[in-house]
Amino acid sequence: MKQGKVDALLGIVFGDEGKGKVVDVFTPRYDVVARFAGGPNAGHTIIFDGKKFVLRSIPSGVFDEGKLNIIGNGCVIAPDLFMAEARELENAGYDLRSRLHISKRAHLILPTHRVLDRAYEAAKGKNKVGTTGKGIGPTYSEKASRTGLRVGDILSDFPQKYAALKARHEKILRDLDFTDYDISEEERLWMEGIDYMRQFSLSDTEIEINRLLAEGKNVLAEGAQGTMLDIDHGTYPFVSSSSTTTGGVCTGLGVGPGSIGEVYGIFKAYSTRVGAGPFPVELFDETGDRLREIGHEYGAVTGRNRRCGWVDLVALRYAIMINGVTQLIMMKSDVLDGFSTIRACVAYEKDGCRVTDMPFDTEGWQAVYQDLPGWQEDLSAMTSEEQFPASFKAYIKFLEDELHTPITILSVGPDRAQTIIR
Ligand code: GDP
Ligand code: IMO
Ligand code: MG
Repeated sequence: MKQGKVDALLGIVFGDEGKGKVVDVFTPRYDVVARFAGGPNAGHTIIFDGKKFVLRSIPSGVFDEGKLNIIGNGCVIAPDLFMAEARELENAGYDLRSRLHISKRAHLILPTHRVLDRAYEAAKGKNKVGTTGKGIGPTYSEKASRTGLRVGDILSDFPQKYAALKARHEKILRDLDFTDYDISEEERLWMEGIDYMRQFSLSDTEIEINRLLAEGKNVLAEGAQGTMLDIDHGTYPFVSSSSTTTGGVCTGLGVGPGSIGEVYGIFKAYSTRVGAGPFPVELFDETGDRLREIGHEYGAVTGRNRRCGWVDLVALRYAIMINGVTQLIMMKSDVLDGFSTIRACVAYEKDGCRVTDMPFDTEGWQAVYQDLPGWQEDLSAMTSEEQFPASFKAYIKFLEDELHTPITILSVGPDRAQTIIR
């Protein structure tokens, strides 16, 4: 039997590229959809048949009955938020119990991790990361410190383990002089979430995935965040705390590099970033406001304004290299309708020095642009490539030439149906 493959679908910029939408479109092609990194900091939007869902911890393959969905060992999970998310799907008619497995090795986000997230942010003063406040950094730090709790821990002596870790967190918070918090209600829901999670298959998902691959089944690894938010390759320290890249797929699911098949790199036809940190293409003018307005660039998790700018080829080239991207997916092209000129950042400049490779210190660089003609047509109504205006075709060709990677899927609207596969 031919061994199955793990294809990766990765955000390759600052997140919110439209991963949820494309995973949902791709799911019919796969047997398994698996999240390998991140947790409720993610917000993946899926729109079909007039319905809209925003998924945080649950993979975006759950709308296709009969497909197995996995929350892998590289993820972190908050039981209370997971319960709320799963119940919302249950109420909409999607019972997940038969189609969702959770790794026993995934780490638990405690209510006190969320307090620590706030405390560490407060302590950073002007240098705040602008986290989602979901306890992501403290939970991954704890994982690396070898003091965390994992999903499998809820199966034995859990109250004692929980009390010991909570006490440790309370001590840190006292030392930080951060004592003005009340988690009693949150903790009640969290414990209810622990009981709720017990109704799911809590399993050795790395063994399960490898067994399925051996049976010739194919897996889609759903990325969270994006390469520029990766703990190693992002704009450190303004990053999230997990491995969001192809390397993260291997460690976050427990699969060997030889299992990796296609690596889909997903990006928007322009750029956005939510939270603090360097963003050389950021526009502070009406054009930035216009991109935000038309693209509805407000965070799916926190509702914050997303910072907007033109497409950044320095970041894209870097992410394609780090991940070994084999195919590109360009989203939200319709948002660029009606601009007379479209710009693409081809290099960064600082103090007379020009670079085309991602610099170590991404602070203080200015974008160098190349201008391209825009188009006036409405892309969102188009259903095939033949209908595309010449300027849009030229924009696609320009990006493919600059990035040396084919763009094989184009998204022209938020709906599942507004997807053009070339
Ligand atoms: P994710 O985190 O990568 O899954 O992306 P988000 O869901 O956070 O953000 C993507 C946003 O863009 C969502 O509101 C989607 O509904 C929307 N979206 C996705 N693709 C398109 C597109 O091609 N055009 C437009 N206009 N919106 C899109
Ligand atoms: P999806 O999967 C966009 C950003 C936060 C912050 C930084 C660290 O929807 O693309 P964290 O809470 O992870 O410690 O925050 O990372 N961030 C995201 N930005 N999309 C995401 O996920 C993000 N997840 C985290 O805004 O700047
Ligand atoms: Mg998102």
